Amino acid sequence: MNKANGYEIQPLPSARFGGVIAVVDGAAFVDAVEAAPDELPQALGDADGFLLLKGMGAISDDPELLIRISRPFGAEVEDYAVTSNRGNLFHPHSSHIIRISNLPPMNFPAPDQPDPPRLPDGGLPVQFPQRRGWHTDQSFRRPPPDISLFYAHQPAPRDQGQTLYADGVGAYEALPGDLRDQAENLMALHVAPFKGYGEDAVINGDPPMELNERDGPQAQPVVRLHPVTGRKALYLCEREQIDWRNGPFVGMEPGIHGDGAKLLYELMTHFTQPAFTYAHHWDRGDLVIYDNRCTIHSGTWFDAEHVARDMWRTTVWGNPGPAYEGEQRSWEA
Ligand SMILES: [Fe+2]
Repeated sequence: MNKANGYEIQPLPSARFGGVIAVVDGAAFVDAVEAAPDELPQALGDADGFLLLKGMGAISDDPELLIRISRPFGAEVEDYAVTSNRGNLFHPHSSHIIRISNLPPMNFPAPDQPDPPRLPDGGLPVQFPQRRGWHTDQSFRRPPPDISLFYAHQPAPRDQGQTLYADGVGAYEALPGDLRDQAENLMALHVAPFKGYGEDAVINGDPPMELNERDGPQAQPVVRLHPVTGRKALYLCEREQIDWRNGPFVGMEPGIHGDGAKLLYELMTHFTQPAFTYAHHWDRGDLVIYDNRCTIHSGTWFDAEHVARDMWRTTVWGNPGPAYEGEQRSWEA
């Protein structure tokens, strides 16, 4: 598809969703986006909530470009100085950018390897439950952010530190009737990770930590109606970002052995099958824009002892949909 301001969107290779744009001059591209601010958000919707921009390395020299290209996606680019107490993650240029990096002072740990770490054919495991860590950003708040922009300032080598994405619309539309009936109108309980509410903490008998207003738990619809495209999408996390003490689901048997756990395993196994997923192998200067309302993602292992990885992220709010209308932000209540 061609766009009026000159950029062309190609289908994402080896995926059934998403689009890719080859950018020649990152700074000029941001100027063009600002000149026609509806176009790139429209393109994101047309591409099922996933866009890969190749060649955005200008952001490394001018981090403000990342904030500028974020603005058309919603009313507010999140200021993490207001929403997060993890000041060590803030980018020195601006607290609207966080750095997901194993470097100091961020010291963000690498994800675990799956068990086993590879598929029998040597491929990267993607499907839950072999692959864990599937989530949508900050789902432990109401409203959660609509859009995330994730930039590879210094990615791990291509065979490590990939990010996996899954298409919630495709997965929803392919749900078998009985699973769809169970998911429709169901609410899941999302919670901030590593607070003692995740699946492992409950299995290990770890005590729950005190949660503050930023941590949830928050009930979120398992099937979200996208406010822009009008399409329904699966919206669900697993392991650390679900409250396994009181959930996974509102009104179902709770805990790791309950009916809710069985349903979550069924839904996540369906959601993350190869037909609905894409594994992104990062190059320096890649910018991925993903819609948290209709996609989930998971990071993969990298050798944090020998490899430095430095990824920059913004999040954008503004249009969570009718289910959230008129609500006060949960962390401001
Ligand atoms: Fe994330």
